[in-house]
Amino acid sequence: ADADRNAILEAHELTAKFYHYLLNNTQYGTEAKEYLRGRGFGDKLINQFMIGYAPTQWDTLSNFLSARKYDPSLMEKGGLLSAKSDGSGYVDRFRGRIMFPIWDRDGKVTAFAGRIIGEGQPKYLNSPETMLFTKSRTIYNLHHARPAIRKSKQVVLFEGYMDVIKSWSAGVKNGIATMGTALTEEHCTILARQAEEIVVCYDGDDAGQAAAMKSIPMLEGAGLRVMVSMLPKGKDPDEYITEYGPDAYLREVIDQPATTTKFKLIYSRKNHILLKEEGRKNYLLEAAGIVAELDSAIEREVYLQELSREFNFPLEVLKQDCHIKHQELQ
Ligand code: UTP
Ligand code: MN
Ligand code: MN
Ligand code: MN
Ligand code: MN
Repeated sequence: ADADRNAILEAHELTAKFYHYLLNNTQYGTEAKEYLRGRGFGDKLINQFMIGYAPTQWDTLSNFLSARKYDPSLMEKGGLLSAKSDGSGYVDRFRGRIMFPIWDRDGKVTAFAGRIIGEGQPKYLNSPETMLFTKSRTIYNLHHARPAIRKSKQVVLFEGYMDVIKSWSAGVKNGIATMGTALTEEHCTILARQAEEIVVCYDGDDAGQAAAMKSIPMLEGAGLRVMVSMLPKGKDPDEYITEYGPDAYLREVIDQPATTTKFKLIYSRKNHILLKEEGRKNYLLEAAGIVAELDSAIEREVYLQELSREFNFPLEVLKQDCHIKHQELQ
């Protein structure tokens, strides 16, 4: 089994270099290269993240690996090849995709994410779970980001690979992402060992904001101090950087995270029609509940004062309600 592991690891390392070579130095990679250029990827970034291209043919990688004496059935177990349905052999798992190597915590390539060029389904095809790759424990770019995380004691959590990479090029060296799947307890534990503070920076759409609401208590539960960087409606970090540039991104998004309380209040607001009496009342009730989660009476007071001012509503009443809710939580 150790020999199998080593062969699969070696094959991943070779495959990453092979795909990277095909992207950079052959005709096969031309369209992918143009696509990446269009998305703002320079050569340096392509090289730093060892981005590659898997050609559309069925046997590019399988021939490459056979020539190097790797057992195809083992390569299928490792997630690089797929078995043909009629049992007559193996074909490349990734075809016609831009390839992002995924590293484990020791910096070894153990999987890939392959993006289709342009539109199509699935947008990203990831490696299957293998003896070397477990999605629930894998954190994209952690190996790369670890020095910066250790130094600042802070980590930035993104939703997508592109967001991590483009943010890196904008100067955010402590950015990571999960593998498209939801954040797990295991991810939280690993992150809490590396950092004290985490900034959640998910996409500015409903899915991203709902995912942030779920991630916050999990991250707090692992002992991290949590902040939330919010993006304008419908934008993700990559799109923000493309539209407004890296300086605005750092200044307006990364360096201005909100507290989780502020984020939850903003999130809750969206579900209420504040122009109506009923909507305002329901929002204030929910807001008092959110503020009630805070341990510090001073902090609670600050948020309640803000609500009181904004809604021209008696502070004392908000405090009473919040106090009761706070005690219920104890
Ligand atoms: P998004 O749909 O937000 O994609 O999914 P993205 O990161 O912005 O990708 P681009 O910019 O269109 O290229 C967020 C993350 O969810 C996972 C990937 O990890 C992706 O980065 N995902 C998404 C998948 O694994 N498979 C999919 O088909 C789609
Ligand atoms: Mn998204
Ligand atoms: Mn996105
Ligand atoms: Mn997108
Ligand atoms: Mn995107």
